[in-house]
Amino acid sequence: MSPRIKDDSVEAVGVAADIVDVVSGYTSLRKRGATYSGLCPFHQEKTPSFSVSADKGLYYCFGCGEGGNVFTFVQRLENLSFAEAVEQLGERFSVPVEYEEGKTGSDRDRSGERRLLALLDKTAEFYSRYLWESKGGETARAYLEARGLERAVCEQFRVGLAPGGWRGLHGRALKEGYTEAEMEAAGLLIRQSDKAYDRFRGRLMFPLVDHRGRVVGFGGRTLGDENPKYLNSPEGPVYRKGHLLYGLFQARRAIADSDEVLIVEGYTDVLALAQAGVGNAVASMGTALTDGQLGLLSRFTPNVHFMFDADRAGIEAAQRSGELARSRSLRAMVVPLPPGEDPADVAKKGGAEAVRRLTAGRISILRFELLRALESSDTASAAGRVQAFDVVRAILAKASSPKEREEEVRLIADRLRLSPENVEILVREPGVTAAAPRRGGSLPQSTRGSDVRAVPSYRERVRSPEATVEREFLIAVLSNPEEARGLLGKLDSEHFVDPLHREAFLGLREVILSASPAQVLRDLARDDSELGRFFVRLAVESDVGEYGRAMLHERHLRLEEQHLARAVQQLSARLESGERDVEMERRLVRLGQLQHEVRAMLANVEEG
Ligand code: CTP
Ligand code: MN
Repeated sequence: MSPRIKDDSVEAVGVAADIVDVVSGYTSLRKRGATYSGLCPFHQEKTPSFSVSADKGLYYCFGCGEGGNVFTFVQRLENLSFAEAVEQLGERFSVPVEYEEGKTGSDRDRSGERRLLALLDKTAEFYSRYLWESKGGETARAYLEARGLERAVCEQFRVGLAPGGWRGLHGRALKEGYTEAEMEAAGLLIRQSDKAYDRFRGRLMFPLVDHRGRVVGFGGRTLGDENPKYLNSPEGPVYRKGHLLYGLFQARRAIADSDEVLIVEGYTDVLALAQAGVGNAVASMGTALTDGQLGLLSRFTPNVHFMFDADRAGIEAAQRSGELARSRSLRAMVVPLPPGEDPADVAKKGGAEAVRRLTAGRISILRFELLRALESSDTASAAGRVQAFDVVRAILAKASSPKEREEEVRLIADRLRLSPENVEILVREPGVTAAAPRRGGSLPQSTRGSDVRAVPSYRERVRSPEATVEREFLIAVLSNPEEARGLLGKLDSEHFVDPLHREAFLGLREVILSASPAQVLRDLARDDSELGRFFVRLAVESDVGEYGRAMLHERHLRLEEQHLARAVQQLSARLESGERDVEMERRLVRLGQLQHEVRAMLANVEEG
C-alpha cells in the first residue's frame, strides 16, 4: 500500500529536484538555447529528439511522444510508484518527506524505517569488505572462484561474507550508534533473554535489494553443508517477502530493453546468468510467485518467463504463479530446463547463446503441463492413448482462449496420432457441461444412477459378437461420414440392441445429417456422461484403426443381417405360441428373402 505523502512535501520536492540533473543520469544533455536536448532514454534513436525545459521542469520526446515532469520521469524509468518517486527524489535533493497521519504510519515510524535501511545498507558494506579484504574471507573467495562466480558480478550484487564470530556485526553496529532493538528489527540480531548474538555467522551473504535499490534483508548461504543451506532474514518492518524479487533492481534496465523477464529459483542462478550476459533474470527465491511480486513485475514488462525444472515442484510453482499472472493479464510462459540442470548450469556451459536458445523454445504453462502428462502415459498402445485422453482433456479445459486450445489440440493429435477433428471433440469448455443440452434423449436411468450395477457394464456388454458389429459400424460411420449419409437414413434404432449404441446411433445420425457436423459432434462429446465418453472413444477408435468404406458397407450388411435374424426369431416365436395371422406369415417369408439377399451380398463382400 502506498503511503500518502503530504501535498506540501510533493511540492517542495518538485521545486528542489533539478530535472536536468536527474535526466543527465540517463542520457547526456546538451544546452540549446532555453532547452537541453539529447538521445531519448525511452526509445532507441540515433539523432536526438528528446528535450528538457529546465525552467518549466518538463521533458518531451518528439520521437516517441513520452513527456512529463521530474516525477513521471523517475517513475517511468525506474518503474516506481508516484510515492516512491517522490521519496527517492526527496532523499536525493535533501527535502524531508512528510506523510499524512493514518494507517500507513506516522513520521516517527518513517524515520525509524530510514534508520533500519541505513543499518542494513551499512551491514551489506561491512560484509562485502569482510569478504574481499579480510584474511577470514579467504575460504569464501576460494569457494566463489571454484563455482566460477567472478568478483565483478559478486560486487554488482553486493555479495559479502558474515564473520564467523558471535558478535562481529553486533559490536560494529553498536559503535555506529544503533541499538540492539534496531538490529533485531532489521533481522540481524537474535536476542534471547540476556544474550544477543549475530543471526548470520560464517555465511556467504546475498543482500536482498528491493526494486528501489534498498537493502532490506539478506539470504545467507552456508559455505559447507550446514543446515539450512540458506538462512534468510525474517520478515519485519522493512522486509516483506511477498513483495521482493531477488535481482530486480540490477535487472531493471535489461528487463525494459528486452521487454521480458526470466524468473529463476536461486540467487546463484541470477548471478551466473548475469555473468554470462543475461541480465534480465530475477529469482523467486525458491517459491511460487505471490500476487505482490507479479504486481511489481507488471510495472516492468508483461512478458514473464519461468525458467523452472520440469519436476513436480517446478510445474506446481509455474501453475500457481501462472494463474495469478493470468489474472493480472501478464503473458506467462515456461522455459523448460534440460533434466537435472538449473539455469546456472546452462549459463556456465553454453553462455548467453545457450540461454537464448532455451528461451526461444518457451511454451505456454498449459503446454508444459500437457507435455508432462503425455510423457508420463503409454501412447504406444491404443488403450494407453484412450486413457491419456482423460488426463489431457482435464488439462485442456483450462485453456484460456479458443486459439490456445486449438494449438494444444494439434499437439495432442500429433502425440496421440489422432486427427485434430477427433481431438477437438474432447474439449469441454468449463461451465457448459451441466447446461449442455443432451441430444437423442436420455440414457436409461440404470446406466447413470445408483443402481448402476444392475446392468452389466459397457465393457461386459460389448463382448458379444452382435455388439461388436454394432460398435464397429458406428466407428466406420465416423470414419466415412460422407459415405454413411445414405446408409443412416435406412436404419433405425431397432438395428441396435445395446442401449448405448442406440443412443450413439441417433446422435451420429444427427451429426451426419446436420449442416455443421463438427459442432454437433462437439456437443455430443462435451457431455460428461457415459454417452459423451463413448463418443470420445468412437472418435479415437476411428483414428486408431483402419475403417474404410468397404468396412462400412460390410458392417452395415451385418447389422442388417442381425436385425433381420432378430425379427425372424421374434415372429417365429409368436407364430409358434399359437398366434395365427396370414399377414404375419407373409412378413416372415419376406424377411426370409431379405435375409437370403443380405447373406448373398455379404458373401460377395467377403470374397471381394
Ligand atoms: N532457498 C531458501 N532456503 C533454503 C533453500 C533454498 O530460501 N533452505 C531459496 C533460495 O532463495 C535459493 C532458492 O531457494 O536461492 C533455490 O534453492 P536451491 O536451488 O537449493 O539453491 P541455489 O540458489 O541453486 O544455490 P546453490 O547453487 O548454491 O546450490
Ligand atoms: Mn539451484
